[in-house]
Amino acid sequence: MPRREEPRTRPISPVRRSSRSGRLKSIHARRGDPDDLAQILVTEEEILAKLDELALRVAEDYKDKDLILVGVLKGAVMVMADFARALPFHAPMDWMAVSSYGASTKSSGVVQIRKDLDTDLNGKHLLIVEDIIDSGLTLSWLLENFQSRGAESIEVLALLRKPEAAKVVIDCKYVGFDIPTDFVVGYGLDYNERYRNLRDVAVLAPHVYS
Ligand code: PRP
Repeated sequence: MPRREEPRTRPISPVRRSSRSGRLKSIHARRGDPDDLAQILVTEEEILAKLDELALRVAEDYKDKDLILVGVLKGAVMVMADFARALPFHAPMDWMAVSSYGASTKSSGVVQIRKDLDTDLNGKHLLIVEDIIDSGLTLSWLLENFQSRGAESIEVLALLRKPEAAKVVIDCKYVGFDIPTDFVVGYGLDYNERYRNLRDVAVLAPHVYS
């Protein structure tokens, strides 16, 4: 059984958050050409606040259950790091590495496993942690794959979702933000392995990939 603790608030003071916000422009300037980004879509502050909110819901929903978090590499690294720390109890973490995009901006629909889970899912309550649901093809494949391994329950948490890009319907219980179909980068999301370390989610300027 995971050891449960009393809920606690995130130990980030308003001062620290506002000073982060003040540094955003120079951070973007240092991590890539700011002209590569057409628009900041979701700020770091909005992301952290939303993950706090989702963590409270998840904590309530799983208060009597053994929860395991499964992150989908590589994009979900930042979401997992902040979401897991917002949870008021310990939850084991495992990772699956898949890729469906390669160097393209469009999902191929062909999912390749690059690293499998270390955990036996039989009888486990699984929460898949994703950065984005775009076409939904990756998650559709993952859900089928995990169901075949005997998980007791499977839910999905996704920071971002593009409803207008959906090719398959994914039942996602915990959604951060619904966004337009623009190609977005930052907070784990990449284009050609760049921009993952941006603190915000931003729209990539079309001239970068056209
Ligand atoms: C991205 C993202 C999701 C998937 C969503 O992964 O992290 O896993 O695409 O797209 P879909 O809903 O259209 O299937 P990607 O394949 O780019 O690999 P990465 O996480 O390593 O960047």
